[in-house]
Amino acid sequence: MNSEDALYPCSFVIFGATGHLAATKLLPSLYRLELQKRLPEVTNFVAFARRDWDDAAWKAHMEESLRQKLGAQFTPECFARFATRFSYVRGDLNDVQAYKRLLEELGKPKTGVCSNMVFYLALKPEDFSAAVDNLAAVGLNRPRGLHRIVVEKPFGSDLQGAQALNERLHRHYDEQQIYRIDHYLAKETVQNLLVFRFANTLIEPVWHRHFIDHVQITVGERAGIETRADYYDKSGALRDMVQNHIMQLLTLVAMEPPAALEANALRDEKVKVLRSIRPIPLDEVPASVVRAQYAAASVEGKPVPGYLGEPGVEKNSSTETYVAARFYIDNWRWRGVPFYLRTGKRLAEQQSFIAIRMRHPPQQLFRETALANMTPNWILLSLQPDEGMHMEIHAKRPGLGMQTRVIRMEAGYRDSHEPAADAYEALLADIIRGDATNFIRFDEVEWAWRVVDPILRSWAANREALPTYPAGSWGPEEARALFAGEDRMWRDQV
Ligand code: BG6
Repeated sequence: MNSEDALYPCSFVIFGATGHLAATKLLPSLYRLELQKRLPEVTNFVAFARRDWDDAAWKAHMEESLRQKLGAQFTPECFARFATRFSYVRGDLNDVQAYKRLLEELGKPKTGVCSNMVFYLALKPEDFSAAVDNLAAVGLNRPRGLHRIVVEKPFGSDLQGAQALNERLHRHYDEQQIYRIDHYLAKETVQNLLVFRFANTLIEPVWHRHFIDHVQITVGERAGIETRADYYDKSGALRDMVQNHIMQLLTLVAMEPPAALEANALRDEKVKVLRSIRPIPLDEVPASVVRAQYAAASVEGKPVPGYLGEPGVEKNSSTETYVAARFYIDNWRWRGVPFYLRTGKRLAEQQSFIAIRMRHPPQQLFRETALANMTPNWILLSLQPDEGMHMEIHAKRPGLGMQTRVIRMEAGYRDSHEPAADAYEALLADIIRGDATNFIRFDEVEWAWRVVDPILRSWAANREALPTYPAGSWGPEEARALFAGEDRMWRDQV
């Protein structure tokens, strides 16, 4: 479907409406759909949360939050239109009476009656089941119109938990009603990975263990955990980023061409990659996976607290804010090629990229060039904040002699005047019109948990203190050990 296709009228309930995700992503994205006049006239939003507020208090809170977040995009006229669509239902997720009030509210919509419904669970994983059961208890799982339930990541907190949650959802909803979200799938540069690989005959033939030495995937964040200790301290970087966003990036880099550009064909290929990832035996986890926590430091002249000093974090917490890992994919294309992944909060740069190092040429012809300068070729895919594809190749150094130097071929992804489509905006539009292409099938979730579960088990059995890294650095020294004895190292720049 085309992202500009018309959206359907619906009633859209946001659970966790006063939370971080709603404030930073959901409300701004829905507001932008309003700004672009994409929301049909009959579109109602219900904010569901615990705070003891009425409609007016909710709107005042939302206005303040959007004004701060949106800057010049915020206009009083657009906000007035947007706010008219909202009502607020106060309630505890475990209290069935609150869902009865929700049902009542949905019967008196602000802009017209609509039997299409969306329930967006912007909740902590441990709260999903209560919401799903209680929605079903008041009959809100069997509507007359199009009905969707949106579940944020992480889907469960381990393999068993994910299976139990899935079973719970399936008691009340059909698979086509369940939208498991991973917003990385809707990032344009992530989608561009498919185009880069499968629309260029130049690339695909070398995308193979015969030519590729290793792959690095880095998702670096400068921010700390902000106000999310409640969620993050129970989650950590492995569950928050690796099991979902980074596994999705890895599958897009490693998968075979799908039979068609269609949701199930793509998911089939991604699942094949996840199934081929070599499980890390429990006793090899320490040598293949590094975890760490950020420590207090001064960043750009300002003191920044360490993870244990963040408000709401347990003082003896062993939650990791950094993970680096080495995986192998045992299939014909990738056997023997290491995939190094890393992500962390409070790193040196807000930067996500995929760096692919090619093999050395089989013969060293250019002996006038110091060996140290004979670096292999790199293909660099920058996902954010810069978006582009670069290649580092050798060319002759101008002048006498036959020395080489590295030059870069640069391909920016977008012209500066092309507007950036926000991932959440695209996904919310997909949800409202019922397009599941960019959402995750359960077997993807399940196989991704199978990859990270041994790591979680090994960590749970090992209570040693975590290594630390200074806030504002590229992570702990220990992460270098993943390359011990090899001529490889982390690449910190694209
Ligand atoms: C979220 C994680 O899913 O992704 C956050 O819960 C993380 O911890 C965020 O900061 C990163 O998303 P983006 O789009 O800023 O790369």
